[in-house]
Amino acid sequence: MIRSFLSLLGVALFVVTLPATAASSPAPAPRVAAIIQSRCALCHGAEGESASVVYPRIAAQHPDYLVKQLRDFRDGRRRSETMTDMAKDLNDDVIVELAAYFAGRKAGARQPGDTDLAAVGKYIYQRGNGYSGVAACASCHGPGGLGTAQLPRLAGQHPAYIETQLKEFNRRARTNDNSIMHSIASKLTELETKAVAVYIGGLQ
Ligand code: HEC
Ligand code: HEC
Repeated sequence: MIRSFLSLLGVALFVVTLPATAASSPAPAPRVAAIIQSRCALCHGAEGESASVVYPRIAAQHPDYLVKQLRDFRDGRRRSETMTDMAKDLNDDVIVELAAYFAGRKAGARQPGDTDLAAVGKYIYQRGNGYSGVAACASCHGPGGLGTAQLPRLAGQHPAYIETQLKEFNRRARTNDNSIMHSIASKLTELETKAVAVYIGGLQ
């Protein structure tokens, strides 16, 4: 009795402490707020800011991209040791609400890294590598890494996550929609992969 009262209180407090929301992202319904608090926040942070570099930042990511990834995790199209389990009981409505919530959060602060590496990364990102046939990342993800409704935002993402994803695209270990990124990642050298990841972390 007391415990259920406390857990109700916990949810209520969380709803109250959720940050002011923009018109485009209404406050999540209590059941969605409870999922955010008791699950997503543990790794991605309550605001999608992912303080730990082990987990990708999802704040300010495009809602359609978030919806697609969450459905793909749930349905097994994008294999992930962690996320398959996290998404397995989420229905489409909840997924849409989770995506709207995280898409409406403020992007985290940029993370400038080694400036020499970032300079190499900038060249690859903005201009590609004409010698090995790497397309400029900017041509799809945008010069500032902001992405589009269909293409993920990269700006300010943790470099370790970018690097892992590029390696997974290369090995075809990222199992959903990997054909474009597989062909790009397979042409990147180890140094270029690291450099472009460092540069992306410093974008905002
Ligand atoms: C135990 C830690 C953990 C929890 C809890 C968790 N995630 Fe994740 N999430 C991850 C990891 C790790 C990845 C990176 C994918 C991989 O490596 O398999 C990820 C990836 C994602 C992605 C893909 C990001 C991208 O840029 O493609 C989304 C979207 C996401 N999580 C949303 C959520 C939501 C929404 C919840 C709550 C329902 C949640 N996650 C709960 C660890 C977690
Ligand atoms: C021709 C267009 C195109 C170009 C050029 C391109 N990308 Fe992508 N990228 C995509 C698409 C499409 C996706 C989404 C794949 C998916 O839905 O699984 C993506 C996804 C990604 C992701 C995963 C993001 C996440 O949140 O998990 C990373 C990282 C990435 N691209 C990095 C790069 C880098 C670095 C370059 C340049 C070396 C680059 N991309 C060039 C189209 C492109």
